[in-house]
Amino acid sequence: MDGQGEAGEGPQWIFGYGSLVWRPDFAYAEREAAWVEGFVRRFWQGSTDHRGLPGAPGRVVTLVPEPRARCWGMAYRVSPLALRETLARLDHREQGGYRRQTVEVRLGEAARRVTGLLYWATPANPNFLGPATPAEIARQVVGASGPSGPNREYVFRLEEALDAIGGSDPHVTEVAAQVRAVGADG
Ligand code: SIN
Repeated sequence: MDGQGEAGEGPQWIFGYGSLVWRPDFAYAEREAAWVEGFVRRFWQGSTDHRGLPGAPGRVVTLVPEPRARCWGMAYRVSPLALRETLARLDHREQGGYRRQTVEVRLGEAARRVTGLLYWATPANPNFLGPATPAEIARQVVGASGPSGPNREYVFRLEEALDAIGGSDPHVTEVAAQVRAVGADG
């Protein structure tokens, strides 16, 4: 739990497991599908600034500790010269409850170990919503939209991006299926 990672000294890999998988929106020198161990991805974080509004939050993903679990995402290597500016931008983008966390990241099939940073929304943040069934999550997603667009787009883009890197996540797949079902019901 820390704010390490400034230019010249900290990790230069950034691990994304949500919107950062499909819309990094920053310059990187290299990227690779990657995973972190000991976490599962869950739609347990409320979004009032991207995929929802204050009083009508959308649901976006965070990580929940679970021993021996693997969470797939995308790792980006940022050049040391660009790191400070990149982190300042990401701190702003992820300000709705996420904090930087230093983790061990495993790159690709070879599972090469590197130190990285991720943005983590813990239950201590005011936008944390916590557990709900996939059907409940889907109902909330279908009704939510914010400055970055409809909440359902976030769900579908994440599902698609994880499938594309061979890192399909049963929770994401289930929520996406329920969003389609609720959407089809009108
Ligand atoms: C991430 O993508 O790694 C953090 C959560 C998000 O922005 O969706």
